[in-house]
Amino acid sequence: MCGIVAYIGKKNAFPVVLKGLKRLEYRGYDSAGVALLSKGNLLVYKKAGKVSNLEDYANQFDISGHIGIGHTRWATHGLPTDINAHPHVSMDGTIALIHNGIIENYDSLRKELINQGYVFKSETDTEVLVHLIDNISKKEKVWFGEALRIALHYVIGAYAIVAISKDYPNRLVAARKSSPLVVGIGTEGDFYLASDASPIVEYTKQVVYLNDEEIAVIDLENDGLKLYNIGDQQKTPYIQQLELELEALEKGGYEHFMLKEIYEQPRSILDCFRGRLNTNEGWVSLRGIREYEDKMIQANRLVIVACGTSWHAGLVGEYLIEDLARINVEVEYASEFRYRNPIIDERDVVIAISQSGETADTLAALELAKSKGATILGICNVVGSSISRITDAGSYTHAGPEIGVASTKAFTAQVTILALMALTLAQKKGTITQSALHTMLAELESIPNKVKRVLESNGHIERIAAQYKDVSNALYLGRGNSFPVALEGALKLKEISYIHAEGYPAAEMKHGPIALIDENMPVFVIATQGNSYEKVVSNIQEVKARKGKIIAIVTEGDIHVREIADEVIEIPETNECLVPLLATIPLQLLSYHIAVMRQCNVDQPRNLAKSVTVE
Ligand code: M6R
Repeated sequence: MCGIVAYIGKKNAFPVVLKGLKRLEYRGYDSAGVALLSKGNLLVYKKAGKVSNLEDYANQFDISGHIGIGHTRWATHGLPTDINAHPHVSMDGTIALIHNGIIENYDSLRKELINQGYVFKSETDTEVLVHLIDNISKKEKVWFGEALRIALHYVIGAYAIVAISKDYPNRLVAARKSSPLVVGIGTEGDFYLASDASPIVEYTKQVVYLNDEEIAVIDLENDGLKLYNIGDQQKTPYIQQLELELEALEKGGYEHFMLKEIYEQPRSILDCFRGRLNTNEGWVSLRGIREYEDKMIQANRLVIVACGTSWHAGLVGEYLIEDLARINVEVEYASEFRYRNPIIDERDVVIAISQSGETADTLAALELAKSKGATILGICNVVGSSISRITDAGSYTHAGPEIGVASTKAFTAQVTILALMALTLAQKKGTITQSALHTMLAELESIPNKVKRVLESNGHIERIAAQYKDVSNALYLGRGNSFPVALEGALKLKEISYIHAEGYPAAEMKHGPIALIDENMPVFVIATQGNSYEKVVSNIQEVKARKGKIIAIVTEGDIHVREIADEVIEIPETNECLVPLLATIPLQLLSYHIAVMRQCNVDQPRNLAKSVTVE
């Protein structure tokens, strides 16, 4: 949710931290702040609003200093104001701290600290941390890093924390539990810390991902980086090489990251299946889960847990795996699964789908499944993310960094992995013939080019967007594996343009939503050729009979729907199983254009954050 950046070394920390905050702004953008150690002083600048507000404000001052911490916030406790922005500072102005996560027992800690004379300035849960560390440091007469370690024993909740103190101008301390934190080892004896690698990659490719309940102490005068657990045992840092490239984090000439990411899909889908299938030899393989294929085939059931767009991909996966591999699949909202005492045991395989790999509910659902003995697998985009590290095995989607808050290329990559998974299991279980497998693989290989062809309709889609940009409501309909596409289309529209939209199985419309239809209601229908085509056409007729406006996604060359729909958008013909990979693209573009025309902030929609690390 929030973004954390820190620097310690010889460079001027402020520009490094500020640039890092801009890269992390997709994680939270309601307020931002920095703290720097400069010539024996602790300087703190905080501003509500975007990082650019902070930049304008802080640039009035002459800021220098070689240690700096910065934070971009997504409010949980307290409004997005200057005061509630991080860093928070101890009462004596010595220690400054930034935090991502939620301190669940903050209320009792706060009361206890108030009883001891602490005065709170903000409404945040985070401020208890800085006062607690100060309190322990003074009472136990220990330095702030040791006080932080002790403080963590009193804290319930999730955290990534970075703290500095003006009493220790060469040290920086960080800790994590259930919120990501990565340390970059610079080339000039300097160090970078961040919520993800994006602020680090332009300086170094050597990184250490902190594990839960690990503390990083960076002391420029004493061997640099040292890692400890909260029991104070020293640990050896595991240094990894980043594969991320800087260009992947830039807009590359596009007006918005979302548009760039929509246009990246031919490449991201290709990257996702590259090396994982061979049409000529007729095989498909996901190396990451190879050891678990038998377990999956023999499983009582596969349970997919996810949130938001990833949950929609899970629904497509259910169709694919049940249809092709004939294995029982259930798809659960991670947030519901974790709290309803699900019946789950060692015969089940639980698969988490998550772009970020950090979503708190999905992580918790996995932990629950693991505690009940299930095998846990992951489908993640972010390499080294928490989900990818706690799962028994898994597959990366290789879509590259997704910066726009609205998920686009991550969705199509997740669906691609699920198609590969379904085919792998079907091949192993013998539920697909070799010739059918060959046909499916060839079809999958043709998808990137077909996506390119769909993208060529952008101008046509933009014109349709212009006609519907002012509506207040919209309905999305689909059947079979196009139903999750309808859900995804509706989510894309509502999250970036703030138009109320609902996705429905087309046949369900007559059980309620049909009451909403009048001449002002646009109904987006996925009406491609396939088993349900005739049925969907009947649903379209039902909408037309009530004067609703039909915008249909149809297979190239379709004549029938064209005659009754107000608008059609053609997509190339493909195997019915793979239609979601193509039908999603026009809906992404429609939402994008409508949001731009409504002057919404496409990449950073209101109230949202890219990575939801709170429940
Ligand atoms: O990182 P995850 O895939 O776990 O995130 C899950 C949802 O928060 C995410 O898909 C969200 O719904 C997107 N904003 C949708 O565009």
